[in-house]
Amino acid sequence: MSLNRWNPNRRQVLGALGSVAVGGANLLNARSATAEDNPTDCSPIGAAGKTPVPYKPDPKLPVRMRKSAFELTATEVDRLKAAYSAQRKLTTTKPDDPRGWLRQSYVHCWYCGGGSNGRSGQEIHGSWLFLPWHRAYLHFQERILCKLIGDDTFALPYWDWDTQKRQVFPPIYGDPNDPSNPLFDMLRSAKPGPTISTQAVSVVILDRTMNTSTSNLFLGSQAGSTGAIENAPHNPTHIWTGDMTMQNANNDMGVLATAARDPVFFAHHANIDRLWSVWLGLSPQHQNFNSSAWLQTAWQFYDENAVWTQITVKDVLDPVTSLRSTYVAPNAPPIWTFRPRIAPHVVAGLAAKPQPPLKPLILANATAAPIQIGTTPLTREVTTPAAQARAFSRLQAEAPTQFVLHIRGIQVPSDKQAILNVFLNLPSATAATSQNVGNFVGTITVLAKTKEMQMHQHPPTNAAFDVTDILSEVKGQKQFSVTLVPVAGEGTAPASMEATFRQISLEQL
Ligand code: C2O
Repeated sequence: MSLNRWNPNRRQVLGALGSVAVGGANLLNARSATAEDNPTDCSPIGAAGKTPVPYKPDPKLPVRMRKSAFELTATEVDRLKAAYSAQRKLTTTKPDDPRGWLRQSYVHCWYCGGGSNGRSGQEIHGSWLFLPWHRAYLHFQERILCKLIGDDTFALPYWDWDTQKRQVFPPIYGDPNDPSNPLFDMLRSAKPGPTISTQAVSVVILDRTMNTSTSNLFLGSQAGSTGAIENAPHNPTHIWTGDMTMQNANNDMGVLATAARDPVFFAHHANIDRLWSVWLGLSPQHQNFNSSAWLQTAWQFYDENAVWTQITVKDVLDPVTSLRSTYVAPNAPPIWTFRPRIAPHVVAGLAAKPQPPLKPLILANATAAPIQIGTTPLTREVTTPAAQARAFSRLQAEAPTQFVLHIRGIQVPSDKQAILNVFLNLPSATAATSQNVGNFVGTITVLAKTKEMQMHQHPPTNAAFDVTDILSEVKGQKQFSVTLVPVAGEGTAPASMEATFRQISLEQL
């Protein structure tokens, strides 16, 4: 079995199927999953019974400077390719070395709970664990690559899809005509050239995400709601990279169990990680959690010397001091704009005359069986008590976050994905409705976990959106509706949709 899918030998096998360009979406999507593509056991090799060594920063290491994948020098591109070549080679020469390319991808598979046969680690997606876990994972991957090429200054690049004119796939990660590039992944449809779907990256989505003002809403919550940055652009960019039509969940990046086999995974996550730091710097209102339950959460990884290591959330919060890595800002501005919120004490009428908090306004609630979502839009309505309608009409567009729309208990079979656009008071919305309407609340994206249906259950997805500014514009209305619109890429409806949810609720913070 060839473990290295970028290996040109694999090309001959695929080439025998016809003269379709290698890496073409149709060919790849037509391929059936193999054991290699659908791992049955992602558990960390040789870790059973080992006591992990606590992570310790090494102040003697140089600070690794992560740069945009669009700004690397030719030498830096060669170094990146040499690092991934070495990591892929390790998988071939020493398949049980935990630092090899395939084993390292299993780390992500394990922590997405995506191993089959009930073997799985803690789920680190869909909650406040998402950002710190991926920061730790990037760290160990980067240190392993440093070690493999004997260069402690090596740093992962970031794919800054939020920088102006960079809404495209980074060319250095390869194109279908050059499968010998170790950064290329055959089970990927994105290629240099086409603009990324606005369902994944757009001014509206980035504006919403980077202006999210509370830690629960930006990072994700302890209770298990997905943070804004994970929900979009993180999730849909995975889907687009796997399949540019955003219809299929068969390729590596579109599936949590296999996403980290694609080297661009780490460039995508470096940008997510960078934007976490950028977000913290935008406003004193933007804060990490200070709860010890968060700070003390611990995970285990093999480090660059294959030492089984334990790292905590607290260990990753000061990257320069603790991890010895940082980001060089891109040399062009972002597509998004930060708009400071009014500080709570200056909002006329709100702090001065505290209102009794709104009881949750329930728009939908499954009492027994969950509510089905098909391929067509679904609307739920509620009539607001008059006092509440008056409170909404006193809101100002840039008031602090007051009202959050929760969509809870979303479930999708583990080998399927779902993308839903959410609108407030726009029951006529369809897949073609632009995000550029004031009623657009946001998008919910659920990634596939595995390529084949697995027996074990994943936690349901919960989404939460700050709708304060949208409510400020619906003055005087008493009737509220929420519409969930299933979509694929660029205003098209999905060919199929198997999703359910349990509750839609509008709640005051
Ligand atoms: Cu762990 Cu981008 O997913």
